[in-house]
Amino acid sequence: MGHAYRAVQWNPFKRRYDACAAALVLLYLGCFVGVTAWLEPEATIESLLIRGFGTAGFLLLHLVLSIGPLARLDARFLPLLYNRRHLGVVTFSLGLVHGVLSLVQYHALGVLNPLASLFQSQVGTRTLAEFPFQPLGLLALAILFLLAATSHDFWLANLGAPLWKALHMSVYVAWFLLLMHVALGILQAETSPLLVALLALGVTWILGLHLLAAWRERRIDSKAGASSDWIDVCAPAEIADGRAKIALVAGERVAVFRYADKLSAVANACQHQNGPLGEGRIIDGCITCPWHGYQYKPDCGASPAPFTEKVATYDVRVERGRVLVKSAPYAPGTRVEPACIPAESMPRHASSAASEFFVGYLPSAPPGVLRFVRGAALAVFVLAAALGCALAASQRTFAAGRFEFGQLRKFSGVIALEPATSLLLQRPGFVGDQAAAHSHYLLVAPGKHGARDLVQAFDGRWVEVEGTLVHRAGQAMLELKPGSIVALAAPPDGASSLAVSPKRRALGPVTLRGEIVDSKCHLGVMNPGELAAHRACATLCIRGGIPVLFLARGSNAQQRQMLLVGSDGRALNQEVLALVADPVEITGELSSWGDLLVLAAEPAQIRRISH
Ligand code: HEM
Ligand code: FES
Repeated sequence: MGHAYRAVQWNPFKRRYDACAAALVLLYLGCFVGVTAWLEPEATIESLLIRGFGTAGFLLLHLVLSIGPLARLDARFLPLLYNRRHLGVVTFSLGLVHGVLSLVQYHALGVLNPLASLFQSQVGTRTLAEFPFQPLGLLALAILFLLAATSHDFWLANLGAPLWKALHMSVYVAWFLLLMHVALGILQAETSPLLVALLALGVTWILGLHLLAAWRERRIDSKAGASSDWIDVCAPAEIADGRAKIALVAGERVAVFRYADKLSAVANACQHQNGPLGEGRIIDGCITCPWHGYQYKPDCGASPAPFTEKVATYDVRVERGRVLVKSAPYAPGTRVEPACIPAESMPRHASSAASEFFVGYLPSAPPGVLRFVRGAALAVFVLAAALGCALAASQRTFAAGRFEFGQLRKFSGVIALEPATSLLLQRPGFVGDQAAAHSHYLLVAPGKHGARDLVQAFDGRWVEVEGTLVHRAGQAMLELKPGSIVALAAPPDGASSLAVSPKRRALGPVTLRGEIVDSKCHLGVMNPGELAAHRACATLCIRGGIPVLFLARGSNAQQRQMLLVGSDGRALNQEVLALVADPVEITGELSSWGDLLVLAAEPAQIRRISH
């Protein structure tokens, strides 16, 4: 029952509904995060949470969009519709956590404002894989926010049902934007056909359900009578006691209710949220909406005092065994004398109208409806657990990259600025080729910044530094603790005084295929730190001076990481921004600097290739 905006109050059913929604989300997140962590120990916790919350929000949106048409097709789903708005708010909250984590992870701590980075870091729209998918997520989140913020009945009462309903239809725009967000984002990086199949299944399910429900509604509308004054609806016996028949009268849906031997007709759209009154029942002498239980007196279309909602009423009469409704409506709330059904037109047997009817605010729900809803809820729980496990298992394998976050270590070595800012560490006990006697630890600053400014005053000198290690496939990097560099007057005990930058050794011209990435994320700060979904972050890191790596990929899916510099040895950071994370072919000169492989090429020698 409703009065002003204090419409659907808290009740035990709603509390149980919300508890189930919370349990459902926790179950899904537990399965997704648990199975991913178990199968992929190298995955970072940020990636687990970003993916867990993103997929949870997206899947929940599918559930939210399914409930409406399901309730249209089978009234036993109506209890799920009763509190659907809370599911919408949960969907927004999950999307918000995912969006904020993504914004922090991929766009914070760089040379651009995070929001500017969100819109600028994904440069280029030549191919679908380059499409800036993240702004689509932001737009969808903004719509979900608007819907969550106006979901309370206060806004419904203030905006009016038609405007509120129109506003809330934009949930379909959000759904479409998210489809594109996923298809143009993560699906450009993932390879499992299951992910594509699930996305296609989701689209087919949502569109199929809506088309089916619309087709059922059209059957009502197609029975529209001729455009005469009085519209023939049906025989009185076709309306069960306490129920209604919906008919199209002068373009409007009208619900003709029978209660005992009386007939009354009212506009079909409930004043609360346009619920179909004609699918409701007469309870305690009032038409009761199937969606949230708003009530209206059948003869005048007005809610019983103190409630104020009103719907339009229509003249009804029974003539030659047919129920006729006059096409012109009366103003909402106008009393119309109910039509009496002549004895000969009354149904001979009591109809089976006593089928169960759910009203959320009543203390108990009919047992059959409860059984059905429990079964449906169980099916949704099983599906959530299965999807959590299946999605977790179909992700691309996470690389064995590590970021020793929170673990500071001290190193002594020689600072080198060429071919990239590095700390040269003497390999302990090394005998033989002096060129291979050192390891290059690439140096970066915290966040998405290179370390050149921090270390250039120490070029070629012995230093002691403190920082956090990042390492992958034999290549190490040190994220410097700012202010921790101390110049040493002499090499530390036992270190060779010969520790100077190793000489470059030419390996000849090469043409290689692969991907340009930022060294910091790729080596392990983010995992995954490559491919299309990571493009915006890689672009921001490279813009900020993080050394550029090229991942050469062989036909056998093996990859080799090498530093990418200009043919004159200059850093290419600002020149390759538009080519990051795309499949490219590079022709250049390969060389080794001790343990570091370096590819020298000009941007003009970098060619974008198809996948
Ligand atoms: C500010 C808004 C958003 C941003 C910046 C954003 C960013 C991202 C990023 C960077 C990815 C790829 C992550 C990866 O490689 O794992 C992603 C994927 C995804 N996003 Fe969003 N997103 C936003 C909003 C949303 C919303 C509102 C939803 C759904 C309610 C959503 C659902 C997804 C899904 C299902 C995926 C694929 C799974 C995954 O990899 O996380 N996103 N998003
Ligand atoms: S009571 Fe909510 S739509 Fe009718």
